[in-house]
Amino acid sequence: MSAPSPVVAPSILAADFARLADEVRAVEGAADWIHVDVMDNHFVPNLTIGLPVVQSLRAATTIPFDVHLMIEEPRRWAPGYADAGAYNVTFHAEASDNPVSLAKDLRAAGAKAGLAIDRDTPIEPYLELLPSFDTLLIMTIKAGFGGQKFIPAMLDKVAAARRHAKAGHLELRIEVDGGIAEDTIAEAAAAGADAFVAGTAVYSAQDPAEAVRKLRGLAARAMAEP
Ligand code: DX5
Ligand code: ZN
Repeated sequence: MSAPSPVVAPSILAADFARLADEVRAVEGAADWIHVDVMDNHFVPNLTIGLPVVQSLRAATTIPFDVHLMIEEPRRWAPGYADAGAYNVTFHAEASDNPVSLAKDLRAAGAKAGLAIDRDTPIEPYLELLPSFDTLLIMTIKAGFGGQKFIPAMLDKVAAARRHAKAGHLELRIEVDGGIAEDTIAEAAAAGADAFVAGTAVYSAQDPAEAVRKLRGLAARAMAEP
């Protein structure tokens, strides 16, 4: 079986919030997913956007949405994002007391289910849950803000998850989020990641679509190496 091709997901957290539809269209044809960071000022100190914005934006583009919920009470809010047409809905392990049950609900609502692991959370307790998920998002920073420095030590979690997924023949996207750029994406891919969130690296570039293509090329090359 050939390795899946890398997914690059620009994060609109680094885009101009007054021009979100234009910013999303700027990566149409280049981006695989659009990463939408939902923060509630409780699970993380920052506050961003919620369901009404996702609903409006959904109508403005055909790119699949990768919704990253950094919120408390995901059980209450997450299914609404699946109903709004999100392709993948990821919630945090630290915020959920029954991740498997919520994953089931998200899948029943027609979305892929994602589990996110923050910087200070070990991966081991969650490995057994992975068959219930389509996506595992490993934070390579502390969740809450864009523009932070990539933490290479987080790649040990990526490697452990990839080993576990391989051994169990799981079909699992392993996504990295935080500080992903031209100088970090290859090491993340080499560790076993195959989906890459990039905010600053895409939206601070002169040509965001070109930045996405460049990142995907670097990831694909690293993933192809034995
Ligand atoms: C932060 C968010 C990230 C953020 C990444 O908590 O989850 O998705 O947008 O931004 P960069 O790519 O700038 O690190
Ligand atoms: Zn994110």
